[in-house]
Amino acid sequence: MRNFLIDTDTGSDDAVALAMALNNSNINIEAITVVAGNIPVEQGLQNALYTVDLCNKKTPVYLGEDKPLKRPLKTSEFFHGQDGLGDIGLDLKGRKARDGNAIDIIIDKVYQFENNLEIIAIGPLTNLALAIKRDPKIISKIKNCFIMGGTAFGPGNITPFSEFNFWVDPEAAEIVLQSGMEITLIDWDATKKYAWFDSNTIKSINNLNTPLSKFSMDIQNNPKKYKKKKYGNEMIELADPLAMAIALDPSIIIKSKKYNVNIDLSNKERRGENILNEEGKKNTTVILKASRKKFLDIFKKSLK
Ligand code: BDR
Ligand code: CA
Repeated sequence: MRNFLIDTDTGSDDAVALAMALNNSNINIEAITVVAGNIPVEQGLQNALYTVDLCNKKTPVYLGEDKPLKRPLKTSEFFHGQDGLGDIGLDLKGRKARDGNAIDIIIDKVYQFENNLEIIAIGPLTNLALAIKRDPKIISKIKNCFIMGGTAFGPGNITPFSEFNFWVDPEAAEIVLQSGMEITLIDWDATKKYAWFDSNTIKSINNLNTPLSKFSMDIQNNPKKYKKKKYGNEMIELADPLAMAIALDPSIIIKSKKYNVNIDLSNKERRGENILNEEGKKNTTVILKASRKKFLDIFKKSLK
């Protein structure tokens, strides 16, 4: 049994990634920690709790940071919807977090499962960076950390050089990537190439006709509308499910390379960009080629 801790800013692709892991009987999800990003942290908390209920699980969900380390929070309701899950009328209120704060929980779980906890981080890295700052000893005790974020080759989804998670809190991303811990980075470049969902792909997911496949596509309502308005077609990319699929089955990766990754910390166009260095401690595995077929197989299998 593998042990996961998932850190999320529960928007419309995060919820799919959560469902994929929650619905997998080989994975023990010790905790879900929520961070501000796509939506304010309280809304992300409700969305994570809703997804846990939908999957008939009792996985504990904890509240985390409500803003980035050094910058004001910029959310993306314009894309994910006001409620973060596509504004399709889901009942996203009134559920309760477990007692405890995300930072303490991350640290506690790393010690509890020393060298046997895998972290899947699919939002801005604020919670994880603060956990590392508070107790740097956790770095060597984490088995692996799968992170969705950034772009090295571009274009990103926020600026030509940056992706949302790292753009929102670049200082946190720099702390985590430079911590020296073993990281598998699933960036926007990989997302664009392998995790696109056009109308045929969406149809094939809907044809599975399960509660989770339906939920996963229904909550893409707002992203699809946004894409249609901006680009004239409804093709969407699901970044967090690609990260989760790779965590569930790293054999999706065909080619990767280890780098020492820095993040652009300016306040200009390149803010949040991934800078891939060949010198220094190369602790981050960057995906260069992956199997779209395997990804979609795992995606579908996970939502049955
Ligand atoms: C990432 O940013 C968020 O909008 C998504 O949830 C995903 O984690 C993609 O850039
Ligand atoms: Ca996310």
